[in-house]
Amino acid sequence: MLKTKIAVMVSGGGTNLQALIDAQEKGLLKSGEIVLVVSGNETAHALERAKKHGIPSVVVSKKICGSQTEFETKIQSALKEHGIQLIILAGFMSILSPDFVSKWPKRIINIHPSLIPSFCGKGFYGLRVHETALRYGVKVTGATVHFVNEIPDGGEIILQKSVPVYKNDTPEKLQRRVMERAEWMILPRAAELISRKIMKEGADYGL
Ligand code: GRF
Repeated sequence: MLKTKIAVMVSGGGTNLQALIDAQEKGLLKSGEIVLVVSGNETAHALERAKKHGIPSVVVSKKICGSQTEFETKIQSALKEHGIQLIILAGFMSILSPDFVSKWPKRIINIHPSLIPSFCGKGFYGLRVHETALRYGVKVTGATVHFVNEIPDGGEIILQKSVPVYKNDTPEKLQRRVMERAEWMILPRAAELISRKIMKEGADYGL
């Protein structure tokens, strides 16, 4: 069976990458295959995870590249070399330019640790998302998988899952619960959903 070729872009621990790898190994992700991991950071633990599962990886560091253009040209050429059809941003810490994003309509998805449109957009990443949710006093938060367009966290929503907030939560506790009960579940599900669509609709997908 033909599968959608997926690149997962990471910068950190890679627990969401791990959830995707596990889904692939369990046959839950069956319409797509992770054929490349792109890391924005050479020390990302996500790279170890890729290696352990025999997935090729490439490091493209924004610091080393002189400019955003050079950074994105390098990423594009790695994606092209591996015939990538779907990009999954799983904790990738660099913003991709509107120019880059416009070349991949409905072909880039991202996982965000809140229920968009709450606690999202510029500056909302990592623990800040959960700190703000706690400060606001929300009783429910969660995670969202969405398409990536030129507006940070502004693309069409694909899947969401809610998670309760408890009285004695710290940002760290809440972050962990959102990952375990939402992110690691909906990201593989969305990867399968979109991979299947790409295979079914072929060249028309995303137009
Ligand atoms: C996750 O919280 C994800 O929602 C956000 O970045 C974090 C990445 O964590 N986009 P990990 O590297 O997958 O463990």
